[in-house]
Amino acid sequence: MITLGIETSCDETSVAVLKGRDTILSNIVSSSLFRHQPFGGVVPEIASRHCLEQIDFVFQEALTQAKIKSKQIDLITVTEGPGLIGSLFVGISFAKALAYQLKKPLVGVNHLDAHLVANFIGEKEPGKYIGLLVSGGHTSLSYHQKGKIKLLGSTVDDAAGEAYDKVAKLLGLGYPGGPVMDKLAAKGDAHAFKFTRPKQKGRFDFSFSGIKTAVLYQVQKTNSHPDSFVRDMAASFQYSVVNWLVEKTLDAAVYKKVRHIVIGGGVSANSALREVLPARAKELGIEVRFPAFALTVDNAAMIARRGLELYQKGKRSNLKLMGKANLVMGKF
Ligand code: KG4
Ligand code: ZN
Repeated sequence: MITLGIETSCDETSVAVLKGRDTILSNIVSSSLFRHQPFGGVVPEIASRHCLEQIDFVFQEALTQAKIKSKQIDLITVTEGPGLIGSLFVGISFAKALAYQLKKPLVGVNHLDAHLVANFIGEKEPGKYIGLLVSGGHTSLSYHQKGKIKLLGSTVDDAAGEAYDKVAKLLGLGYPGGPVMDKLAAKGDAHAFKFTRPKQKGRFDFSFSGIKTAVLYQVQKTNSHPDSFVRDMAASFQYSVVNWLVEKTLDAAVYKKVRHIVIGGGVSANSALREVLPARAKELGIEVRFPAFALTVDNAAMIARRGLELYQKGKRSNLKLMGKANLVMGKF
C-alpha cells in the first residue's frame, strides 16, 4: 500500500510517500521561514503563496525520491486543519485534483492528531497514553485509548511555541525564537528570574501570556541588556515553561493511570523538555516518547501515517473536502 501525504497547514509545503505503515520512502519539506523572518512572525498571505508556488515541485520531488510513478499511489491523504485557511486550501485543492485524476481514495487528516502519531512510524503504539502537543499554534493534553481521543485541556491564551517566539522577540533574538532560546538557556542561570505560576480554570489547561508579560516588565526595567541578561532570561523562562509542561503532563498521566506519554509538535525538539520529562516520568514508572527530530516539524509523513490509519478504519473524504482552520485535537 502506497500512501501519499500532503501537508500545507502553515508555512511549510510538504509531500511524503509512505509504504505500508512504517516505511517513509520520501518526506520533502519546503519551508517559507526565510520569507517571514523580516516580519518577526508568519505572514499568512506569504505562507499561502509559497505553498502555491512550491506544491507541484515538492510533489514531483517526493515521487522521484520514492522512485515511484503517480499511478502507483493507492491513497491520498491531506491536512484538513487546523491551520491558515489559504495554505490549507492549496494542499486540499491539489489533493482533490489528484484523487479525481488518479481515481484514488482521499482522506482528510487532523494535523494535531498527526503530530502525535508521528511517534508510531516504525514503532508500536501503546494501548493508552497521554498526548502532549506543543507547537507554535497549539498546546494541549489529550487522553488516547484504542483510537479514541479525549481532549483534557489546552492553552487559554498563547501556545508554548508562540510564547517562546514572543519572548525571543522581546529579547531581540529574531524568529523563530524556540531553537535560539533553547541554545542560550543552556548557558544561563535558570534561577536568575522567578516567574509565578499562572492560575487556570481547568486542571489540565495551560496559560503562557503571563510569563511573556513578566519578561516584558523585566526588559523595560533597564535600557541596556547585556548578553548575560539575555542568557539568564532565556534559561529562567525555559525552566518555568518546561516545569509547567512537565507537571501538568505527569498529573494527567497519573490521573488517567497510563504508563505512556507521547509528545508532538515543534516544541518537542526542546532539549530541556527531552531531558526533564523522561527523567521525572521514570520515577513514576512512565515511559515518554518523542518523535525523531525530522518529524517534530510540520511534515507530510505524519499526515500519510494518520491518513492511512483513518482509511483502514473506514474514513473516506470526497471532493467536498474543505479546510477547517479551527479544528481541535481529536475532531474532524
Ligand atoms: O509544530 P510547529 O513546526 O509549527 C506549528 O504547527 O505551529 O512548531 C513551531 C514552533 C515555533 O514556535 C518554534 O519556536 C518552536 O516550535 N520550537 C521550539 C524549539 N524548536 C522549535 N521551541 C522550543 N525549543 C525548541 N528547541
Ligand atoms: Zn504543526
